[in-house]
Amino acid sequence: MTIITETGAQFTATSPEKDNARRPLAGTPAQTDRIADKDAAQNVVRLHQVSRRFGETQALNGVSLTVKRGEILGIIGRSGAGKSTLIRCLNGLEQPDDGVIEIEGHAITGLSEKQWQSVRSRVGMVFQHFNLLSAKTVEQNVALPLKIAGFDKARRQARVAELLALVGLEDKAKSYPAALSGGQKQRVGIARALAASPALLLCDEATSALDPETTRSILALLQSLNQKLGITILLITHEMEVIKKIAHRVAVINAGEIIEEGPVWQVFAHPQSQLTRTLLQGLLPQLPEALADELTADRQGQAIYSVQYAGQGSQGEIITQMAAELPGKFRLIQGGVDHIQHYAIVRFFYSVPVADTAAEQAVLHWLQQRQATVELTGYVSGNA
Ligand SMILES: Nc1ncnc2c1ncn2[C@@H]1O[C@H](COP(=O)(O)OP(=O)(O)OP(=O)(O)O)[C@@H](O)[C@H]1O
Ligand SMILES: [Mg+2]
Repeated sequence: MTIITETGAQFTATSPEKDNARRPLAGTPAQTDRIADKDAAQNVVRLHQVSRRFGETQALNGVSLTVKRGEILGIIGRSGAGKSTLIRCLNGLEQPDDGVIEIEGHAITGLSEKQWQSVRSRVGMVFQHFNLLSAKTVEQNVALPLKIAGFDKARRQARVAELLALVGLEDKAKSYPAALSGGQKQRVGIARALAASPALLLCDEATSALDPETTRSILALLQSLNQKLGITILLITHEMEVIKKIAHRVAVINAGEIIEEGPVWQVFAHPQSQLTRTLLQGLLPQLPEALADELTADRQGQAIYSVQYAGQGSQGEIITQMAAELPGKFRLIQGGVDHIQHYAIVRFFYSVPVADTAAEQAVLHWLQQRQATVELTGYVSGNA
């Protein structure tokens, strides 16, 4: 049985389990199951050449992607890129026209209702607008999927108490959604998504309706659930900040295609596509506007260079070292260090007078020896 609430939340009758062990599908041939088992141990989700078209719009175009067990994978892209379509294909609200989708090693297209339900219980969904039932209390909202799944009252109460403790809402059990803040509503949404102990949590813009401080607390909660329960999370967002805070890997989607993919530190340090660079722009140090306006291509006055560098641990102190080892040879204009997954991602701009070619070469040589990416941004007359 599937119930879809007025806001689109979907609950399916299944028998939840206590742990995250994969439940075999009814009627799956033993041999296929063994192959699936191996794959399922590694990958919770596997998409192979998945496509979905709506009339003239190719919402997904040959998407291949895996989400490894225990990881937080972020998918980022602009509005209309196909992010929600991808998530809807994973929770069964949408069927792809082409390609294969596997959850824990089982292809989910073309399943019977019964088979689908057993896969469905392995996937929890967190919505941007929470999708809570306003006439029900917090505990009733969280208990709903358990009720549908046939948990008796005592087990429901015990599980709801456990879930509310997990999301830090023990004291709000009897409250109605209208009496909760946005962040608290999302905590209820997360507790409800976790009710059936899924292996995979899908989050579609789960923090987009929240202020920055609440966003941080929800991201911290998702991160702690990932660490404590080992739950795999697929997080969809248009904000790089979200990816930077909690994702292990990131995939960039554009016009239905994955255009870039990798560990978050790597994509931040060495973005390959123009779109990724644009998405990252707000998080990177920029040249002061007045200076950027003055830039020319004519070699004159001061040369301005940009530097990009990723190093582990203390290698992040490249700016301090450079200043100590090359005193007076350059001027630091603007810069910053980001710490992502034990990497220091350093970006800065510096200037050198074009008249002092020895200094210009010395600085370039020093940076190149450290495998930093150095680009000439342009020239300005006078002092930079
Ligand atoms: N049911 C539908 N019928 C027709 N077109 C659709 C449908 N669902 C999605 N689309 C189209 O497919 C494309 C991808 O939509 P999708 O909702 O996946 O984008 P998105 O990346 O989630 O965008 P946003 O960041 O704005 O939520 C869009 O051009 C959208 O208009
Ligand atoms: Mg969307």
